[in-house]
Amino acid sequence: MIEIAPSILSADFAHLAEDCQAAIRGGASLLHVDVMDGHFVPNITIGPLVVAALRKVVDVPLDCHLMITNPDEYIPAFADAGASWVSVHQEICVHLNRTLELIHQHGMKAGVVINPATPVQTLGEVLDLVHHVLVMSVNPGFGGQKFIPSTLEKVRKLATMRNAKGVNFRIEIDGGIDLETIGPAARAGVELFVVGSHAFGHGDPARHVQELLKAAQSAMMQTA
Ligand code: DX5
Ligand code: ZN
Repeated sequence: MIEIAPSILSADFAHLAEDCQAAIRGGASLLHVDVMDGHFVPNITIGPLVVAALRKVVDVPLDCHLMITNPDEYIPAFADAGASWVSVHQEICVHLNRTLELIHQHGMKAGVVINPATPVQTLGEVLDLVHHVLVMSVNPGFGGQKFIPSTLEKVRKLATMRNAKGVNFRIEIDGGIDLETIGPAARAGVELFVVGSHAFGHGDPARHVQELLKAAQSAMMQTA
């Protein structure tokens, strides 16, 4: 099922509840929360306190993307705050299997993320443990960057690996998604679309989310 996950990174932090509720009215069925620590990526954003605040004002799953060097230390705090999905970067997790199990033990859905330069083959041993694989289509750290087209080949490879292994994870994409890139990404096999600047950066998040959802759905109809 196609779903839009607006990234609150591009929302107005002084009016976060209103922006998120508008995006949900437009059809967003989850919200993406970008957590950055200034070490793994060159930017600092938000943490469990904002997740807890958001949890009180929206009902949709909160999809937390941890771009931090020591995710294991913070997984319990995200669970307490009400995070629903937590994804961690393959590049930073020395004991990736342990980290994914830790997310499960805290009652959340576990995801793994790969940067544009990381091959999908690095995930072969964890595909049966994850609820979603997040393919970065920009280098993480900032909203508003340009989509890297070669990442779609990784989406296609992941879909093939999923069939070959008979497993069930969902494929999510993050970075540079707009009305032009969402169609090709949907046709490559993406179901979950993180959208930051295009959802929140131009006013009227409800309308932008609605247009993105329609564009992804119609791209899928053309494939069928
Ligand atoms: C980038 C973040 C993204 C970001 C996407 O490091 O992981 O979630 O908010 O923003 P756009 O859609 O503007 O590329
Ligand atoms: Zn993200």
